[in-house]
Amino acid sequence: MNILAVESSCDETAVAVVRDGRTVLSDAIASQVDMHTIYGGVVPEIASRKHLGAIYGLADQALIQAGVTRQDIDAVACTYAPGLIGAVLVGVNFAKSVAYGLNVPLIPVHHIRGHIAANYLTHPDLEPPFLCLCVSGGNTLIVDVRDYTHMELLGATRDDAAGECFDKVARVLGIGYPGGGPMDRLSQGGDPKKYHLPRSKVDGAPLDMSFSGLKTAALNLIHNAQQKGEELDLPSFAASFAQAVSDELVPRTMAAAQSLGYGKIAAAGGVAANSTIRAQLERACRASGDTLYLPKLSLCGDNGAMIGCQGYYEYLAGHTAGMELNGYANKNVGVG
Ligand code: KG4
Repeated sequence: MNILAVESSCDETAVAVVRDGRTVLSDAIASQVDMHTIYGGVVPEIASRKHLGAIYGLADQALIQAGVTRQDIDAVACTYAPGLIGAVLVGVNFAKSVAYGLNVPLIPVHHIRGHIAANYLTHPDLEPPFLCLCVSGGNTLIVDVRDYTHMELLGATRDDAAGECFDKVARVLGIGYPGGGPMDRLSQGGDPKKYHLPRSKVDGAPLDMSFSGLKTAALNLIHNAQQKGEELDLPSFAASFAQAVSDELVPRTMAAAQSLGYGKIAAAGGVAANSTIRAQLERACRASGDTLYLPKLSLCGDNGAMIGCQGYYEYLAGHTAGMELNGYANKNVGVG
């Protein structure tokens, strides 16, 4: 079964062709990063307009790269939630029109379920159940993946997402947008214990997290140093910050995994590319005996292939939609 998969929830327009869930025939991506860099963050209205401009050509490119024609497409999948609503709607409406025109099923895919599915593309042997830490620019979640389409949210950030935190701190340091990658590179060789940054605790919800205090503390540290005319040891600051983010994520992930007892832990989303978080997860899983599944770096960020992969499993579960399908800014990953 060939699925044409569309992703447009944030600042990447992506169209892929995926065969039977796990074979990626093509994965075309148009990044808008250059445009949003001017503003130091994603401007939603610009994102929607750029998606609109890119999506038709990208779909043609995905078909050509896959070596298939429109008649070879058996279904169309698209991210329908969560995301920037104007951006999501561009992909949803494009997918609807293609599904209608080709007279094939339309499959709505939850963006975070797509990120989780990037692990199936990296690890052909991986099957649910497993626990997944989902960390991106807009979401930070701990998810019980009981089955391909049966999931439960166990914990989440109460405020900022981990990726957003990296991006804001990087912006104040003036090291680029999106900031997670540059912060990661800057942290190499730094001393992660040099700067003291807070760790959060949410009363009564041990798997929930908070990043706003950490973000404020990091920004205050930078501003105080600037006001006093002191030089920050930037690699050590970046390493201390990455360690603080990782300390929010990894112990909670391990605690959730131990309570479930699946023996399998995965990570997903753009922030899952972070070297400190990956290394801490690897150490923790070596100690606990759990098997760790990390998506390959090229599949951590937004892409169409992950939507095509998850779309296949949603289709097998009977989760298709009619032309009334809408997009949503928020939706629980458990609802799908
Ligand atoms: O999954 P993604 O591409 O988009 C969303 O669905 O949000 O994630 C983008 C986020 C950005 O916040 C970016 O700064 C962050 O992932 N990111 C990283 C790294 N690479 C990308 N954060 C930390 N370390 C990285 N190496």
